[in-house]
Amino acid sequence: MTMRESSFAEDARAIREGDTLVKVRGLRKWFPVNTGFLSSLLYKQELFVKAVDGLTFDIKKGEVLVLAGESGCGKTTTGRCILYLESPTDGLVTYADQDLGALDRNEMKELRKRMQITFQDPYESLNPKQSIYGIVSEPLVVHKIPLTPSQKRERVLEALESVALTPAIDYIDRYPHELSGGQRQRISVARALILHPDFMVADEPVSMLDVSIRAEILNLLLELREELGLTYLFITHDLAVATYIAHRIGIMYLGKLMELGPSHEVAFNPLHPYTRALISAVPSGDPTVKRRVESLKGEPPSPINVPPGCRFHPRCPYAQEICVREVPEDRDMGDEHVVACHFAGELPEIEIT
Ligand SMILES: Nc1ncnc2c1ncn2[C@@H]1O[C@H](COP(=O)(O)OP(=O)(O)O)[C@@H](O)[C@H]1O
Ligand code: SF4
Ligand SMILES: [Mg+2]
Repeated sequence: MTMRESSFAEDARAIREGDTLVKVRGLRKWFPVNTGFLSSLLYKQELFVKAVDGLTFDIKKGEVLVLAGESGCGKTTTGRCILYLESPTDGLVTYADQDLGALDRNEMKELRKRMQITFQDPYESLNPKQSIYGIVSEPLVVHKIPLTPSQKRERVLEALESVALTPAIDYIDRYPHELSGGQRQRISVARALILHPDFMVADEPVSMLDVSIRAEILNLLLELREELGLTYLFITHDLAVATYIAHRIGIMYLGKLMELGPSHEVAFNPLHPYTRALISAVPSGDPTVKRRVESLKGEPPSPINVPPGCRFHPRCPYAQEICVREVPEDRDMGDEHVVACHFAGELPEIEIT
């Protein structure tokens, strides 16, 4: 274990024993499918995209919880439901012990200042016609924060400084097209920080960036967490990124968690066949290391027709008859490592290097 890994592991343990900031219980988000008149006669029942289909987890104060999984597994919808940018179909989300579903408009607006989101694509999410000042100060305007023009400018400069766009005065009057991808992502983070939030959903913040600047942005997010006491729900399809930044990792498949546990456990002792398949697909970085590749058959099924029993069974090399019939319970494998597989801990060992 490197120095960083061991201090991170200690940090993770302390966080785990601390307070819960976000509680998610049985969260579902089903989008109705508009099938048209003929299909509705054919199917006789309404169809739904089961984007999120029964999620339960906590996010601790100060934690970096990563949700990982293939594209379309419901990560973004989960993040949006947790911020109530999308109303859940079912389930409960609490933030600092407040049930978000029970808040009125004003209470929700007040709480929104504390919960922010940054988006995947810094090219699309920043309005090209707005100056950096306009973009970063927007949340102050939306939330009608009573500030004089010079105080507002001061807040924007402070936010730009905090994401290391320095000297901030050189950036404030520029436009997005004058900046690199990494600098734009910093702008997006500055905008999210300007209201001094304590929770941030970071939705694939580095996946559109050049590999060479990914670590820079990840390190910036980690530094901000420490300096400002932030908590993150970090979304990524990239397990190398997840392992780098997470205290805990949750692996999603077709709207459900397959495995959730401390980052090191999930990355180096994965117990769910799906996690193993994802991990064996990540290059080790060392060309002399041969990885035993777990096979992953075919594409994920449509979230409209979720397979019965274990939803991973059509692609699982270990599937048995029970997997088709029964939904696996979450098995606690110790150290808060939870796995939704009938055979967790009983499958052959694989070597992860
Ligand atoms: N507003 C929507 N209406 C209908 N289907 C949606 C909507 N948003 C997302 N979906 C569907 O929900 C599933 C999960 O999407 P998403 O949460 O974006 O996944 P991820 O972020 O993991 O790629 C996908 O099948 C997607 O097409
Ligand atoms: S429950 Fe069965 S199908 Fe599902 S992951 Fe485990 S072994 Fe595979
Ligand atoms: Mg997404």
